[in-house]
Order: sequence, then structure tokens, then C-alpha cells
Amino acid sequence: MNGLTRTVDRRDQQEAANGTGMSTRPPQATAEPSPLPWTRRHVLDLDDFTPDEIAIVLETADAMREVLGREVPRLPTLRGTTIATLFYEASTRTRASFELAGKALGADVINVSSSGSSVEKGESLIDTVRTLRAIGVDILVMRHSNSGAPYLAARHVDAAVLNGGDGWHAHPTQALLDLFTIQRRLGNVRGCKVVIVGDIMHSRVARSNLWGLSAAGAEIVVCGPPTLIPAGLGVIDEAEPGRCLPHVTVCHDLREALDGADVVMTLRLQKERMQSGLIPSLREYSRLYEITAERLRWAKPDALVMHPGPMNEGVEIAPDVAYSVQSGIEEQVTNGVAVRMALLYLIRGGKRAA
Ligand code: NCD
Repeated sequence: MNGLTRTVDRRDQQEAANGTGMSTRPPQATAEPSPLPWTRRHVLDLDDFTPDEIAIVLETADAMREVLGREVPRLPTLRGTTIATLFYEASTRTRASFELAGKALGADVINVSSSGSSVEKGESLIDTVRTLRAIGVDILVMRHSNSGAPYLAARHVDAAVLNGGDGWHAHPTQALLDLFTIQRRLGNVRGCKVVIVGDIMHSRVARSNLWGLSAAGAEIVVCGPPTLIPAGLGVIDEAEPGRCLPHVTVCHDLREALDGADVVMTLRLQKERMQSGLIPSLREYSRLYEITAERLRWAKPDALVMHPGPMNEGVEIAPDVAYSVQSGIEEQVTNGVAVRMALLYLIRGGKRAA
């Protein structure tokens, strides 16, 4: 049992003991120093996450995996807290795992979709989030097709906001669960060569992963057709001194990119966001970039294969690779619950400390 597991158990017992699911004592009143140096209230992207914050999320997620393995996988930490998932775009994994994560921590969870809600009657985003706050929502998990929408919500509502994916921009919880999966499978993220293959241009998963992997000390290579890689990636931008841009190598040749890879992360072609003409055809794309068993041999022998889902088998990844022993794809989904529990738990602690 690691230190954080003990921390979770201690807080769990304390909260269970006072019967409210919430500690009535502020951390500064306790004899021990706060074990969680976490002050973040929202999780909007990983661009400003420190390596220490990432390490705290991964350690807490480890403790949450242990909780999920118990006969009764429940903690009372968020009892009395209401979480709303507000999704303006389709989702299976992200939404379901946030819901399960919230319930595993004892929260009440309500799911609101743009279809079937007042959004269809023209209600603005700000009015919708204010309405949810007015009925008692404490934590808002949001997915929106417009980049920046969760930032707008965070400015207008007195609730914690977790970004479940905004446009092309960011998907921080996916990147954190990817880091967690790499750490569990390979022991460490630092020093790993991670090759992200596919439609980098339209991928919020790739963008958040660039920040997260970079903060965690991975070597990052992106690979795909030039039309699907944003211009300027891999170029050090001197325009913003002080801001640490992720260092990325761009490579259009799959064989060269995969040489020595520890992790191969494949991405879906995000056709819903693509202008026509960016690739000649799906067949041409897979001819050059599909991860097949034969091409996977260009990477290290036990390289971990990842995909955020949903997969288009036979386009970016061959089915025998997706379901092989080298694949961590199902594990990514399982880990998503633990990572989202960790974030909800930490945010709750941060809120209490505030
Ligand atoms: C991704 C998303 O929605 O950004 N999926 C996910 O959340 N697991 C990737 C995608 O849609 O291709």
C-alpha cells in the first residue's frame, strides 16, 4: 500500500466517521500537514500542469484502482456533492467513466445532453451552466464542439469545471489516463519514446498529450501525412519566453518514426472536423499509416499500442493489433475511471482547502 492509498483510506475513514461524507475540519486545523498539495479547482487542459501535479494525479489514480478492486468499490468522499455531465457532442467512454467515477465516490450524478434539453430551444451555454449551478451542481464535466467552451463556463459559474473535450483544443482527462496507462504498463513515462500516429491536426487528444507527455519527460514523435500535422509543430517558438512548449519531433515516414518506439499511440481520422481533400482516400491513408502487425515490428519488441477510441479498424489500426497482447486499449478505458475518480477526489480536496 503506498502513501497515497493510506491518505485515501484515512480521509475515507474520517469522512465515514463524521457521517456527512465531508470533513468538517479544514486541513490547516489538523495535526498533520495537508498530504495533497493540490490547489487546482478546474481541469481545462494540461498546458499549465507541473510535473508534480501530474505525479499526484497518477499516484491518486493508483490508489483509486485499488479502491475499484475492492468488493464494494466505493468511497464516501463526494457524498453530498452533485456532478453534472453536460455533453454537446457524442461520447461513450468519457461520459460513462465520469459517471461511474462520480458514483464510486458517492456523488449524485446527472447527465444532460444538448439534444433533449433547453439547448435545443436556443438556450445559451452560459444560461445552461448557470441553471445547473442554481439547482445545486458543484462539479460540471463538459464536452463541447467549440474550443474554449469549458473556459467560458468556468468564468461564469461558481462550480468546478472539468473539460471532457473541447473542439480540436484539449482533452486533459484522456491524456492523463494515457499517461497512467503508460506508467502502469512500462513502469515510467520519463524517457519513453512515444510515437503519436495519425490525424494530429484535428485531435484534442494529441494536443493534451503533447503537454502531458512533455511535462512527464517523454520523448515525443508525431507521424502522419503533412496535411494532418499542424504547421509549426516541432519548431521552438521564441515568441512566448517563459512558456515551456512541448518539444516534438515531426516525421512523415512511419518506419523511421517507429524505430525504437516504446509506445505507439494511434488516432482516428476525425472526418467530422476535416475539410475535404486533406487525404487522397482512406485506402491511401491506411496504405501508409495503418498500424498493422507487420509494421508494429518496426517499434521495440514489446511496444505498447494505444488508441483513445473510437477506433476505425482497418483504417488507422488493424484489428489483430488492436486486440493483441501489446494493446493497452481496453486498459485505457478501465484506467479512465480511476483517473477521473482521482481528479474528482483532488478537486474536492482543493475546494475544501480553498
Ligand atoms: C476522443 C475524443 O472524443 O476526443 N475520444 C475519447 O474521448 N476517448 C477521440 C476521438 O473522437 O477520436
